[in-house]
Amino acid sequence: MRRPFVAGNWKMNGSKASIRELLDGLNQGIAGVTAEVAVCPPSIYLAEVAEQLDGSPISWGAQNLSQEASGAFTGEISPAMVKDLACTYVLVGHSERRSIYGEDDALVAKKFAAARAMGVKPILCVGETLEEREKGVTEDVVGRQLDAVLELEGISAFNDAVVAYEPVWAIGTGMTASPEQAQDVHAFIRQRFASHDAAVAEGLRIQYGGSVKGANAAELFAKPDIDGGLIGGASLDADEFLSICRAAS
Ligand code: 13P
Repeated sequence: MRRPFVAGNWKMNGSKASIRELLDGLNQGIAGVTAEVAVCPPSIYLAEVAEQLDGSPISWGAQNLSQEASGAFTGEISPAMVKDLACTYVLVGHSERRSIYGEDDALVAKKFAAARAMGVKPILCVGETLEEREKGVTEDVVGRQLDAVLELEGISAFNDAVVAYEPVWAIGTGMTASPEQAQDVHAFIRQRFASHDAAVAEGLRIQYGGSVKGANAAELFAKPDIDGGLIGGASLDADEFLSICRAAS
């Protein structure tokens, strides 16, 4: 049985005060949630988040990391720093990193490898644009994104990683993929892994991301290959995020 996993990607939002309030709300409401829960704050707040979540069942992760170990890379966050801040997870290949900051499949694969080398679990984000979906190449695109990492790191790397399917057209748009559309791609992803190793594929948690809310989470999570969610906007509100966590529990 795969334990459902819900992660909040706060993106570039929040302040010391708003984060304190959000985490207070999460800490108060988390009892009874059986799904695994994590939050990914902006990295500048990771130390405070780690402090406030000390003793909480909620873990934390970074939104990005450098593929380089250390040195003259102004503005970057090294894998060792992510580890130093006790991050359990790190997002790699989020579509905003791919589209706005030009991260290609090869770079994403290097970041995935850098995280694993530090013992931080990568959450590998994949997904197609609206144009790609309309052209009917969703599986080609997602398959290519997965293969770049599989070729570099091998199937066993996914024993300790998570995949998040986030159709780009559903992110921040209010246009959620239907449970059937999401399930189709999740099943494709699991099949892709199964062609390498059936046991790894069976154990792999595949989150859905893209306009998930309390109101639509349960029907998405009811699908057999959807093992939780990667939540953007709705993760900034404690009650809304907790209702998604409960839907996964
Ligand atoms: P929204 O939930 O705001 O659509 O964002 C999804 C996302 O990109 C999470 O990584």
